[in-house]
Amino acid sequence: MTATTDAPTRTGTHPRVEGLDKVTGRARYAYEYAADEVAYAWPVTASVGAGEVRGVDVDGALAQPGVLAVLWHGNAPSLADVGDSKVAVLQSPVVAFRGQVVALVVASTSEQAREVATTLTVTYDSREPDVVLRADHPTLYRPESVNGGYSTDSVIGDAVAEFDACPVQVDATYTTPPEHNHPMEPHASTAVWGDGRLTVYDSSQGGNAVRSTLSTLFGIDRELVRVVTSHVGGGFGSKGMPRAGVVLAVMAARQVDRPVKVALTRQHLFDLVGYRTPTIQRVRLGADPDGRLRSIDHQALEQTATVEEFAEQSVAATRVMYAAAHRRTAHRLVRLDVAVPSWMRAPGETPGMYALESAMDELAVATGVDPVELRIRNDPDVDPETGARFSSRNLVACLTLGAQRFGWAGRDPEPGVRREGRWLVGTGMASSTYPTYATAASCRAGVDPDGGYDIAINATDIGTGARTAMLLVAADTLGVDPSQVRVRVGDTDLPQAGLAGGSMGTTSWGMAVEKACRELLEAVRAAGGVVDERIEVAVDTKAEIAAQAELSRHAFGAQFVEARVDIDTGEVRAPRMVGMFAAGRIVNARTARSQLIGGMTMGLSMALHEEGVPDAAFGGFTNHDLSTYHVATVADVGDIDVGWIDEVDDDVNTIGTKGIGEIGIVGTAAAVANAVYHATGVRVRDLPITLDKTGQLA
Ligand code: MOS
Repeated sequence: MTATTDAPTRTGTHPRVEGLDKVTGRARYAYEYAADEVAYAWPVTASVGAGEVRGVDVDGALAQPGVLAVLWHGNAPSLADVGDSKVAVLQSPVVAFRGQVVALVVASTSEQAREVATTLTVTYDSREPDVVLRADHPTLYRPESVNGGYSTDSVIGDAVAEFDACPVQVDATYTTPPEHNHPMEPHASTAVWGDGRLTVYDSSQGGNAVRSTLSTLFGIDRELVRVVTSHVGGGFGSKGMPRAGVVLAVMAARQVDRPVKVALTRQHLFDLVGYRTPTIQRVRLGADPDGRLRSIDHQALEQTATVEEFAEQSVAATRVMYAAAHRRTAHRLVRLDVAVPSWMRAPGETPGMYALESAMDELAVATGVDPVELRIRNDPDVDPETGARFSSRNLVACLTLGAQRFGWAGRDPEPGVRREGRWLVGTGMASSTYPTYATAASCRAGVDPDGGYDIAINATDIGTGARTAMLLVAADTLGVDPSQVRVRVGDTDLPQAGLAGGSMGTTSWGMAVEKACRELLEAVRAAGGVVDERIEVAVDTKAEIAAQAELSRHAFGAQFVEARVDIDTGEVRAPRMVGMFAAGRIVNARTARSQLIGGMTMGLSMALHEEGVPDAAFGGFTNHDLSTYHVATVADVGDIDVGWIDEVDDDVNTIGTKGIGEIGIVGTAAAVANAVYHATGVRVRDLPITLDKTGQLA
């Protein structure tokens, strides 16, 4: 095995096919589609933390210039119930959280709509909101299952009794704050009704779900709804399912009988598009003096909303990471007056692996075993909870090669003893993992007499390079130059496929593209190799997905971080990070590298900056913009070096990919925290690692 980003086998490299369109402004995003007589809708959000809406001054608002309609639950059209509070907008007087949509102003210009929306008089019956997650909260309960279909609890042996009997024990509680998705392009939609048909240009990770939801909500035949998602400026999970904005656009467009645009502001994103739940996690590791784990116990406490449950799978990764005969994992929830938490890049793995990998570092300290060696010693042969075979598991290779690349060998484990000028210097590491998912997709592939190939699939390119990845899968399968292939994505008129989420886009769509291209080659052969008119095939991968064997499918990785902490201010910098991954076949080295660096950047941001602050007095969050909710900027990021193993996995699925969108963020925060400990001797168990937490160092 070799670690390289240069030229591994089966890896192509290609610039984004739509890159030129994007940098020249030709690529159109959801809000930018022209429509005649377009109107603009602006959401009005609850200014109370919990309660009910009593009334809205509709007449006063309608008297303002340009106002076409004012909708609230008292006059809004009824929508079918799809069991999703997030899209059931203006259907009930209940205010479940501060920032919820309670009314909508539609006007001829965006400025008029915004002006009237921000001055609209709304009256409420309000009560004091309860928005702070605490371990002793009275509403604590056990959910039936958690996101991703994982079981709530797992129990093997007797983790607590075994822990009590272990000579080395780590028992620590870690907390993570709410974190917010902030894609570069905030959510936006343009809705156009015409001839009984609905066309929606939407900033979404998956147009098919938007189409299904809109067709049910508004009682319109699926075939009469078209959702276009040509270009999307990121999502991180927040655009994984339809949300309030797109429903409001469609509702308003029907109401005023004109096309309507809705663009959420950066401020709206804090309340209306989901966020990562805060967590309180207790991890107990029981081991022998040589670091071999005998007991793993990981309990996560999270929050959900009063109106709907979302249970993040925070301890799911712990079930696959390390061997130990006795194990217990559990998720518990508290219902609060908050927006429903939701997906944010590697939901579950991200907070969970911060806790587990911090605890592993504490175990390394307690046993004196090197952190890399500790993980190698506890690497399981089979999935430690299901007993299933791994399709491939190359964590050890990632640890070894990553350590080499970083220069880990000979590290002095003593914390707080290296100093360069004002900086205390340390290094830390952590493992990464992410499950490999795939869903069925359909695809059409055609070839024309001029030798041009055409691939059509409703994949969504949210900026990751999905179009280009599909191009390379197609060109590779067809054995032609990529310049001969055209790929069409981002439109529900194209063959149906799943969302860009769960790091499964390239796998799910790629399986369908590869199959379509193989069948197209067959069809051309059957025609004697002569293409005198278009030859086209259509496939889906339902059978391939259904036939997948019971294997444990995961990507793995190892991350290494150098941290510097200012001796006087406690400021933390991370000038150098190395990530080494084993994620199956890497389709496009160029965009894969970006995904992994992006994930690690987001993990660094989580470690040092990101913190949604619940507003205990008024509900919602106290921070509502990027000046008070800090994300890592260019100046915060040093050298991030990523590599991967040329991992050939013929069992994981039909194209050997494992997905790379999320694994980069998993483990990063722990690697940073572990490096901060090594630099300072201060163990921060509460993210983010702000300078008040590193304490007096001088
Ligand atoms: Mo990702 S949080 O699965 O879009």
